[in-house]
Amino acid sequence: MNLTRERTDSYWQYEAAVDLELPVAKPQLPLADEILPYLRRIDQSRWYSNGGPLVQEFEARLAAQTGEGAVATVANATIGLTLALLTHDLAPGSLCMVPAWTFAATGHAIEHAGLVPWIVDVDPESWALEPDAARELLREAPGPISAVMPVSPFGHPIDFAAWSSFRDETGVAVVIDAAAMFDTIQAGSVPAVVSLHATKVLGVGEGGFVVTDDAGFIQELQKRANFGFWGSREATAPSLNGKMSEYTAAVGLAALDTWETTRADFARVAVSYREALAGQGKVILQEGFGGRWVSSTVMVAAADAGAEAVGRELAAHRIGTRRWWGGGLHRHGAFAKFPRGRTQQTEDLANSVLGLPCWRDLPNDKIRQICEFVIAAAG
Ligand SMILES: Cc1ncc(COP(=O)(O)O)c(C=O)c1O
Repeated sequence: MNLTRERTDSYWQYEAAVDLELPVAKPQLPLADEILPYLRRIDQSRWYSNGGPLVQEFEARLAAQTGEGAVATVANATIGLTLALLTHDLAPGSLCMVPAWTFAATGHAIEHAGLVPWIVDVDPESWALEPDAARELLREAPGPISAVMPVSPFGHPIDFAAWSSFRDETGVAVVIDAAAMFDTIQAGSVPAVVSLHATKVLGVGEGGFVVTDDAGFIQELQKRANFGFWGSREATAPSLNGKMSEYTAAVGLAALDTWETTRADFARVAVSYREALAGQGKVILQEGFGGRWVSSTVMVAAADAGAEAVGRELAAHRIGTRRWWGGGLHRHGAFAKFPRGRTQQTEDLANSVLGLPCWRDLPNDKIRQICEFVIAAAG
């Protein structure tokens, strides 16, 4: 019996094992030769974690990239979201408003920070929880509310200034789940958390970072990411181990070295999809995708035909698709016990939105072929 094989199979069993010609994702991170100079520096320094020189350099370069904000790298974005909430020292058991249209990690982070996810609906146009809607919803809160966690849908930019105003006016803490937003992320006064998972535009394997223009917040978060230690070995606050290792920072630095090429590759794919889907109204791309922002996922809404029918048709042609956020947060068993408001818009998105193949070297002719099948299935 091959135990490794069995374990791997069951881990990924949520998708049918089809022999795909075009998988939905095919990540390509920095090559070994590109990472090697950084690895040699680790051999020299013999510093492997705990804010070593490569992590410091990676954070400085990320800070420059995001408009001179302050940056803390973290083990992954789920941990980063948890830490950003913990750093606010919110009342245990209070509510954190969260859109239903998100990935499971958002809900897990809220729960692990000792808060109760209050699941609400999103805007049908932007696919996000908008600040004005959140303001209205505050009146319906089913208990004391201390935080909101807006989510960038698949990398679509979020209005940071509007969320800052929301926080200042309401006194409710805001942490932005900007997991897929690396391309346009800029430091603002509300903290945002970006994922550097292998499936993201800037991938390191497992990793992430928290960014804000509030350097004090970042320092407090770094303490919370290191057992609550700061300048001594006394744990001074509820904390965890959320640090990034030097090895991960090495991959991150190599990824930043080639970011322009990586971005150009994703932009080419996005523009190619835009062109192949132009001139019809059945299959809609996200607003601004391939124009003012790029991402590692190509998400389309096929409201008439539905995501399932389009996915089935593409599978018949050995083309992979993924409903990256499944049925929404409220549909996961793990979150069944948590309070929720209306979720109709999320239901509609869950039924119509589908991720198409998206990888850096996906050829334009394959994109055109994929789109022909998609349009035919949606028609
Ligand atoms: C919206 C959202 N939040 C959080 C995460 C978690 O990121 P990570 O895998 O780095 O923990 C993801 C992952 O894709 C995500 O899509």
